[in-house]
Amino acid sequence: MSRHFLEIDDLSPAELASVLDLAELREPPAVLKGQGVALMFEKPSARTRNSSEMAVVQLGGHPVAIASAEVGLGTRETPEDLARTLACYHRVIAARVYDHMALVRMAAAIDRAQLFVPVVNLLSDIGHPCQTLADLLTLRQHFGYLKGLSVAWIGDAANNVCHSLALGCALVGARLVAAAPPGFGLSAETISKAVALAGSKGVISESCDPTEAVGGVDAIVTDVWTSMGQESEAEERRRVFSKFQVDEQLVNRAPSHAVVLHCLPAHRGEEISGEVLDSSASLVWQEAGNRMHAMRGLLLWLMGGGTHEDNGDAALRECSGAEDLLGEQSR
Ligand code: CP
Ligand code: NVA
Repeated sequence: MSRHFLEIDDLSPAELASVLDLAELREPPAVLKGQGVALMFEKPSARTRNSSEMAVVQLGGHPVAIASAEVGLGTRETPEDLARTLACYHRVIAARVYDHMALVRMAAAIDRAQLFVPVVNLLSDIGHPCQTLADLLTLRQHFGYLKGLSVAWIGDAANNVCHSLALGCALVGARLVAAAPPGFGLSAETISKAVALAGSKGVISESCDPTEAVGGVDAIVTDVWTSMGQESEAEERRRVFSKFQVDEQLVNRAPSHAVVLHCLPAHRGEEISGEVLDSSASLVWQEAGNRMHAMRGLLLWLMGGGTHEDNGDAALRECSGAEDLLGEQSR
């Protein structure tokens, strides 16, 4: 079976640590030599597309970025048929989708066909696990460890980035407190999953007060108040979240060693002030750069840099009858 990466907890704590270690490998082997990686986007992207393309290139592969309108995911053909088709040409299928179920259906189709083509979530309505990899990598680089760190999420705690980060923190033994207005807190599912992953209720908590939430933390993390697909709610969200801006006043309530993360794009003056984004506490550019290193680590791991068996050739054989080519490559 292929190992897919639809959410951060598709990795065990040990596997997550391996991916972060592989992300630090600056001269990686060309594990994707001569192979394609499909990068499909239903929504806009600057960081994810560019960092993923470059990570594939650094592993010797060929990225093919696809706008969903070109292939008509779910309209021109089903996610299942599209996944089977892309698996004929690509070693990995990665996609940014509105509906997380499209990723689940693509992965299931790959499994049913017994192909070995990992499906990777490049952001869905539910999660953004590739962002979590980069965020954990950034925190590990800065502090030297992850276990025991304390993280405050400020803003929309019901969104995709917060969901994946909460699970990621639970996996590495970091504590997360989420400060959000009523109705925009952590979902019950996020809380119960985080508690189950960490084996401890203390790993995750909620607050309605940003000032209280940042007390004693090592990192403050935020994201846009209005995620892609929620644009019609933007005005109302600006009103609801107005007291949840990460500004200098709030950062000053945290310990002086606390750092600030934001997945970007940022709306300066909304969820974060320009002063904080540009301050010495802000690690956002290191975090953005780490999207590439984290993706390279993930791809390397999926290609067998971890402990599982890599059966990638099977997919090519199934689709293209390319025994000769594969024989040539393996010689
Ligand atoms: N952080 C992030 O995923 O950025 P993009 O939406 O630009 O890819
Ligand atoms: N929560 C944001 C993240 C963007 C990278 C969104 O989904 O639009």
